[in-house]
Amino acid sequence: MALLDDLKWRYATKKMNGTKVSQDKIDYILEAARMAPSSSGLQQYKVIVVSDRDLLEKIKGVAYHQSQITDCSHLLIFAAWDGYNDERITKVFNYMMDERDLPHSTMDSYKNTILSLYEIQGQEWQAHHAAKQSYISFAMAIAAAAEQKVDATPIEGFLSDKLDELLKLRDGGYRSTVILPLGYRKEEEDWLVNMKKVRLPKDKFITEMTIEDAADIGDLPMTQTLDGFAQK
Ligand SMILES: Cc1cc2nc3c(=O)[nH]c(=O)nc-3n(C[C@H](O)[C@H](O)[C@H](O)COP(=O)(O)O)c2cc1C
Repeated sequence: MALLDDLKWRYATKKMNGTKVSQDKIDYILEAARMAPSSSGLQQYKVIVVSDRDLLEKIKGVAYHQSQITDCSHLLIFAAWDGYNDERITKVFNYMMDERDLPHSTMDSYKNTILSLYEIQGQEWQAHHAAKQSYISFAMAIAAAAEQKVDATPIEGFLSDKLDELLKLRDGGYRSTVILPLGYRKEEEDWLVNMKKVRLPKDKFITEMTIEDAADIGDLPMTQTLDGFAQK
């Protein structure tokens, strides 16, 4: 039950007190983010860590002046690829094969399949797909922070174009997706700290389905398979 207890303890902290979080805890949270699963294992995102007070002040200016950004200890910025291409995917898969002592060609067929699937979707779809992966890592960081009893505020309320410009993210082919200040709550000034955590009741959130509930969608003429590793 430990994880559930931690998730119930955490909340989107509205006021932080400026206390520094130890490097051990920051490293632990970042390691949880690094361990997140991602589509095809591409890790099509990265995490930027900011604790420089002057830079945090600038970031606050493009994030609706949310106080957590300057009252936090460290700010994590999740940034995802702005699109997929052969070079990017090949680089990751080559690294993966090197780490596993396998020939680079092991992933060729799989790589060509996903590239062909991604290419027809266009760049905005691709950027969105990569951004979705970054949120998985973001969620892991939130859970790990809760486990470490470090407060965190998930934040989407910022101008991503401006943040990209400030951090020169577009030059490297990245777009900011979501940010996470880490720190400690200032209870006496935080309006949310003692509020009940509200979630949909289980019966509204969870639906069990059987074949009886499903629609008849006929047979799909799928010609491609996603047979990751299997080389014919
Ligand atoms: C992706 C995402 C973006 C969010 N953006 C903001 C934000 O910009 N500012 C803020 O104060 N809270 C933000 N929140 C916090 C949510 O409002 C909060 O998580 C939600 O109301 C549930 O409350 P809890 O996290 O305290 O359990 C965001 C949460 C998520 C998951």
